[in-house]
Amino acid sequence: MERQLKTIILAAGKGTRFNSRVPKVLHEVCGKPVLDYVIDTAKAAGSLKTYVVVGHEAELVRRAVEGRADIVLQEEQLGTAHAVRCAADEFKAYSGEVLVMCGDTPLLDPVIVRKLVSRHRRSGAVCTFLTAELANPEGYGRILRDESGRVRAIREHKDADTSERAIREINVGVYCFAGKELFGSIADIAINPKKKEFYLTDIIELFLSRGCKVDTLVTDDWTANLGINTRADLALAGSIMRERILKDLMSSGVTVVDPATTYVESDVRIGRDSVIYPCTYIHHGVRVGENCSVGPFARLRPGTVLADRVSVGNFAEISRSRLGADVNMKHFSFLGDADVGSGANIGCGAVTANYDGKNKNKTNIGRGAFIGCDAVLVAPTEVGAGAVVGAGSVVTPGRKVPANRVAVGIPARVIKKVERHE
Ligand code: UD1
Ligand code: CA
Repeated sequence: MERQLKTIILAAGKGTRFNSRVPKVLHEVCGKPVLDYVIDTAKAAGSLKTYVVVGHEAELVRRAVEGRADIVLQEEQLGTAHAVRCAADEFKAYSGEVLVMCGDTPLLDPVIVRKLVSRHRRSGAVCTFLTAELANPEGYGRILRDESGRVRAIREHKDADTSERAIREINVGVYCFAGKELFGSIADIAINPKKKEFYLTDIIELFLSRGCKVDTLVTDDWTANLGINTRADLALAGSIMRERILKDLMSSGVTVVDPATTYVESDVRIGRDSVIYPCTYIHHGVRVGENCSVGPFARLRPGTVLADRVSVGNFAEISRSRLGADVNMKHFSFLGDADVGSGANIGCGAVTANYDGKNKNKTNIGRGAFIGCDAVLVAPTEVGAGAVVGAGSVVTPGRKVPANRVAVGIPARVIKKVERHE
């Protein structure tokens, strides 16, 4: 039978060096909060339930993860072992495995975590944890091994002597535990006399002294433990993540003409053979179909969905809108809260006025409609299928241009049927 996996994410620390009123784990990397990446990684590794240990600004974090993770409160931050212990009540009747990770490492690859869990399951260890070789191991816990290469302990930097500090293998801070053994031993960890904290890392020596097996997985991906301690770390993580996202898109068949000036946030999907031109920004969660053309200088904001063969050109901005197949929106336009039927044309400079100062209102544009240059559609409004709105016209709120009619002027009035020359 497949064993169960649950996760504890440690995120109670103050993050002093980040210098923010907002907890650092809620700051965004490529449009998504740092903590969300870690929660997603836990899920991708097969975790059924995730607990986030919070302390500093607990309420803000609780609200941010609502529905995606449970919260455990650590009122006083007495160290990483104490943080895990705070979750003990949630694991009383639990006999599966427990993954423990830090909340501030958004670049940790789910593939590595999956490997860690499966190695743990094969080896029969009570704890399997991730290590990495760093050129500069300063500040991290070092991995002490015996002559035959078996782990003996994790020594924190502060407690390490000169020879131990020369060790370049470090503790990443990702652990897979047998749940029963974890909570059976965690209360026995003694306080660290120097830092006056309970170190989770001390559990390794404790397990070994009790005759339990401990195992490690070494990763060569140095970004796995890139913690967001400062704003500079945040920017660095953003640029690494951006490169990953663009690489993934390109390998899935999307042309990115100039990766250096293209910004695509996380969880964006773009179909095959679409082309993204330079200086384009595509926000979190946007969907773009196949054979689309976006940019140069386009901005697709959250809630935008483009069907296949849509063309969005320079200085176009789209927000919370759906564009059907073959829609053209080539220059200087804005669409917000709009639903655009397939084959419609949004003329140069045409905009939806979707915000009335209080509410965001909807605009519906039917299939094959033609919105003339510089037209303003003041929402809520509707343009029927095949209708034409003349250049410079203003369609006022609550009005509907019927299907296959031409409307012009300010306010726009219907003047005739659409003549088709086919
Ligand atoms: C920890 C490890 C170290 C490892 C490093 C990897 C310990 C004792 N040391 O060191 O071996 O190399 O991570 O990054 O575990 N936290 C709480 N409550 C607390 C204290 C910390 O939730 O009381 C959280 C923090 O918010 C953070 C994580 O635990 O997300 C790690 O804590 P931190 O104090 O940064 O540990 P390090 O000194 O970096
Ligand atoms: Ca840290």
